[in-house]
Amino acid sequence: MYSSSIEDGVAKTMERDSELRERAAQVIPGGMYGHMSVLRRMPPEYPQYFERAEGCHLWDVDGNEYIDYMCSYGPMIAGYANPRIRAAADAQRAQLDIANAPAPVIVELAERLVKQISHADWAVFAKNGNDATTICVMCARACADQPVILVANGAYHGAQPWANYMSKGTPKEDHQHFLPYQFNNIESLDEAASKAHGRLAGIIVSAFRHDAGHHQELTDLQFAKRVREICDREGAALILDDVRAGLRLSLDASWSALGIHPDLSAWGKGIANGEPLAAVLGNDFYREAMTKIFVTGSFWYQAAPMAAAIETLNVLSEQNGPQLMERLGQQLRSGLYEQAQRHGHGIIQSGPPQMPTLMFEDDPKAEKGIAFCGLAVKEGVYLHPWHNMFLSTAHTENEIEKTLEATDRAFRQLS
Ligand SMILES: Cc1ncc(COP(=O)(O)O)c(C=O)c1O
Repeated sequence: MYSSSIEDGVAKTMERDSELRERAAQVIPGGMYGHMSVLRRMPPEYPQYFERAEGCHLWDVDGNEYIDYMCSYGPMIAGYANPRIRAAADAQRAQLDIANAPAPVIVELAERLVKQISHADWAVFAKNGNDATTICVMCARACADQPVILVANGAYHGAQPWANYMSKGTPKEDHQHFLPYQFNNIESLDEAASKAHGRLAGIIVSAFRHDAGHHQELTDLQFAKRVREICDREGAALILDDVRAGLRLSLDASWSALGIHPDLSAWGKGIANGEPLAAVLGNDFYREAMTKIFVTGSFWYQAAPMAAAIETLNVLSEQNGPQLMERLGQQLRSGLYEQAQRHGHGIIQSGPPQMPTLMFEDDPKAEKGIAFCGLAVKEGVYLHPWHNMFLSTAHTENEIEKTLEATDRAFRQLS
């Protein structure tokens, strides 16, 4: 067990968290796994367990409160326990959630998405973002009857073996038909496309370059145009992975602002404000191919998350969600910039304000970032030192101001 003292004298205890970590070490390999294994890489001040969440606030199991800028790594977009979205899910759950066939809400949600997302003529649903990206890959291959998919180096499209370049248990043969290119680099894209000529089924792109541990890069228009041109020329699918950025940059697909429409898009995370739901949207050209692939899951037709998704779309449209999150993110970004300057720390902020990344200059191992985030979390603000963060429509100007008071103290303590 450890406790850390906050400058104003209020001690933050983590007794219950420590106890749970010890118990988990016995029954969960590594104590935790995947992106929830914060223990391994985050500063020790980070709680491993939370007990309550509301709006943009989290409470850990020892009662410490945080203003949250990770939003469950994206799914929370309109506030934890959003009363409207929760009520919609609960009402559907009370009536029917899963059965031998879906509830009508599956049609209503598909209609709603087809109306809202410009490139979409149809929708299918699943649970996780990796289901959605995998369905896109299969559908593209089924349509072209070709195997090769171009994937940007370092981009994350899920932890399933074809997309997983980080771990053991994924032999290189699993990546045999996936050729790399550099995001935003037309030359490397052209080169990969020429290698795949005659065998190309699709090009998968992220909404922008949001690889963890890197400064983010917004999508270059000329690059996006070239992706579209190659797909048109080769009869391949432009697959937009909007799992992470979807509904934060736009209420349409994220490349709509560039005027580039994908053939297939993958959605997850925020679309049901934390209820488990993913979606694949496609245009008419890919409709038949979608009927030719067999993809399914026991929980994929669950109705409550679909009801939550419709209400999430309503809430975000009414609030003008992307603009609201952009404004709040900008307020945070400007405040952090001013503070870093004043306290003599060089920081680099990248990505769209709705999904900001904060890193320090000359900090290749993120040591300074980790120290800063450790100080911030002690002050009640949950940030991330190398992954993009997330704003939500539940953040307010007032909460950003409180955040900045905390980060000011954190910057001051940072050596
Ligand atoms: C861009 C992107 N695609 C796909 C995924 C996979 O989504 P999930 O974790 O829901 O399987 C993620 C998850 O972080 C993601 O950020």
